[in-house]
Amino acid sequence: MTALDSRIAVAVIGAGTMGAGIAQVAALAGHPVFLHDTRPGAAAQAIDGIRHGLRALVAKKRLDADQVESALNGLCAADALTDLGACGLIIEAIVERLDAKTALFGALESIVTTDCLLATNTSSIPVTAIGAGLRHPERLGGLHFFNPAPRMPLVEIVSGLDTSAETTRTLADTATAWGKTPVLTRSTPGFIVNRVARPFYAEGLRLLQEQALDPATLDHIMRTCGGFRMGPCELTDLIGQDINAAVSRSVWTAFYHAPRFEPSLLQQELVDGGRLGRKSGRGFHDYREGTPAPAPQLAPAQACPKMVSIHGDGPLARALASRLRAHEVAFDTAPAREDGCVAQAGDARLYLTDGRSATRRASDLNQPATLLLDLALDPETATCLPLAAARQCPESARQAAIGLLQAAGYEVAPIQDAPGMVVMRTVAMLINEAADTVHQGVCSAPDLDLAMRLGVNYPLGPLDWCDRIGARVIGTVLTHLRGSDGERYRPCVALQSAIHSGKSFHEA
Ligand code: NAI
Repeated sequence: MTALDSRIAVAVIGAGTMGAGIAQVAALAGHPVFLHDTRPGAAAQAIDGIRHGLRALVAKKRLDADQVESALNGLCAADALTDLGACGLIIEAIVERLDAKTALFGALESIVTTDCLLATNTSSIPVTAIGAGLRHPERLGGLHFFNPAPRMPLVEIVSGLDTSAETTRTLADTATAWGKTPVLTRSTPGFIVNRVARPFYAEGLRLLQEQALDPATLDHIMRTCGGFRMGPCELTDLIGQDINAAVSRSVWTAFYHAPRFEPSLLQQELVDGGRLGRKSGRGFHDYREGTPAPAPQLAPAQACPKMVSIHGDGPLARALASRLRAHEVAFDTAPAREDGCVAQAGDARLYLTDGRSATRRASDLNQPATLLLDLALDPETATCLPLAAARQCPESARQAAIGLLQAAGYEVAPIQDAPGMVVMRTVAMLINEAADTVHQGVCSAPDLDLAMRLGVNYPLGPLDWCDRIGARVIGTVLTHLRGSDGERYRPCVALQSAIHSGKSFHEA
């Protein structure tokens, strides 16, 4: 363990949202902490806020009073950079501009000693570019905390071209000593989390733009079927549509306009209209007082047909069978079918989406009564299943399918016939991005999954999710999506290798 000794002073520069949070974390870990900001009074004001917040946590018995008072005693505002000469670590959390950051680190180099480590909390500027003008760029690394820093456990430790292994190790060990979970990443656009999470927003926004469903239904599906903590509309409303759009645009620009990162016209329209989300009262949803929360579009009750059969023993068929049994609904079982049909309800045939639209699949199978189900994180416990019917599907078959799913205890969310549906399309793209990120040496497979679970609360790391679903299934979904919607959905080289080798991303 090479963590910075807690007796060594730490400075945090920039006393805004992130700087104040990071200063609090370092002070609670026992370091003397200096907080500096160019805005007069900002550092002292931030310290007042920290004091107030920490004492409130003591009152709620969430923190120890002695630890808090000792942290507060060690925390002070620094008026000038020249006060920071004795610090062993300086963390920059100032405005997100390369010129401001290089000027700051340039000035610090002539103030601090040669063994002082320098860290930036940037979320989008390459660490390599920030270090380029320094005399000793090997001691600069990224310490990318997530907001709110005191509560979010993840810290991305970012290495630029010149960052030394020793700097990376000390920053990672120090983050651990501060009670955080570090993951190592190379300085590439979006690092891990802000890159791999892009499809979560992009695919949802695209489905809205394609009129596949409305925002409330999208959020409901992602929570109750996909197992995500929040859906993309409510989450971007919380983050701020302007902030989320700016991150998407910066990743898209940094990847030279790769089609999979293309920003959303729909989101831009919200930004243009000042509908920034919770902070402005309206975004995808309306937060103004007296406005009821929007309801998802769910199918009204239908009768379960008399003739129901479940085919094979894949996860979806098993879940349907066990839930029908639990609801005392009679059904037949049959071996797995070559066409992949998981259930038959009267004339209706139900399949798990494979990236083709239901309409295309009905045509390929010459079976008009074709209906598709979406991927569920766990079909045994999911409370809602999205359903898409082929255009040529008779209404009676659609109702029969809804009746069967409702009899198994699911809410049914009928959506337009969008290829890949909602959860499958999003998860397939998350997996593809995750595979590509590891393939390009940005981070290890375990760190990638850890980062996505801790940084954005995903129920499973994308690579673990791929192991659960099977790389072949994901590859088929993406290949079909690519057929209908182009280059954006190209399965990456690493995913193709997982398909053809049958090996997990976690294996050599
Ligand atoms: P903020 O706007 O809340 O705070 C920035 C502070 O830096 C302000 O108080 C400002 O007066 C001060 N400042 C500006 N230039 C300065 C300089 N040259 N020297 C000293 N102080 C200066 O910004 P926020 O949100 O705290 O972000 C800070 C950094 O953290 C940015 O690089 C941002 O990209 C990054 N970040 C932000 C996250 C967020 O969710 N807000 C999450 C992770 C990283």
